[in-house]
Amino acid sequence: MLLQLVLISLAAIAGTGDGAKTKTSTHLRFYMHDLVTALPGRPATAVRITRGTTPVPVDPRVRFGDMYVIDDLLTEGPDAASPVVGRGQGFFLFASQTELAVLLTFNVVFTAGPHNGSTIALVSRDAFFDEVRELPVVGGTGVFRGVTGYGLLRTHTFNTSAMNAVLKIDMYLRG
Ligand SMILES: *[C@@H]1O[C@H](CO)[C@@H](O)[C@H](O)[C@H]1NC(C)=O
Ligand SMILES: *[C@@H]1O[C@H](CO)[C@@H](O)[C@H](O)[C@H]1NC(C)=O
Repeated sequence: MLLQLVLISLAAIAGTGDGAKTKTSTHLRFYMHDLVTALPGRPATAVRITRGTTPVPVDPRVRFGDMYVIDDLLTEGPDAASPVVGRGQGFFLFASQTELAVLLTFNVVFTAGPHNGSTIALVSRDAFFDEVRELPVVGGTGVFRGVTGYGLLRTHTFNTSAMNAVLKIDMYLRG
């Protein structure tokens, strides 16, 4: 009796394979405005909420363990005045004692366009001076429920004194 049940369950699992479903793939590009220092008419959107312990030798302004909460503007183009896509909401944590490298964890919250109301969840390592950083997608909500994929993050501009960056993000999604 138990064996029969096990076999039935296995058959049910095999039957749910989605081989028949057509996988869709989507490419999204947007720009993220990470403002550590406020600009005229624009408040800071990356705010330090914990102060770490030991200065990181390559940039002693930064300490191992510094954490910033972010609510960054996302736009279609590199200009902050270009059409709004949404917000990047989450945090980054200086997680290397030797490099400027952070654990960057955030949700892409769409507030306009066809994806308005949906989100994509990302957990990544962002080494600031690498040309391309990968953003693993861990899931999504709304039209992105169950999505898989990755993003590629590139620094478009970086003001080292203000620590303000415009980041270019290309997302490649399947689901
Ligand atoms: C996005 O969706 C919200 C909630 O449905 C709505 O209030 C808002 O007007 C929409 N924004 C745009 C730009 O379509
Ligand atoms: C970089 O930021 C500083 C401080 O906010 C500012 O004075 C300077 O004009 C900025 N440089 C550029 C190229 O935007």
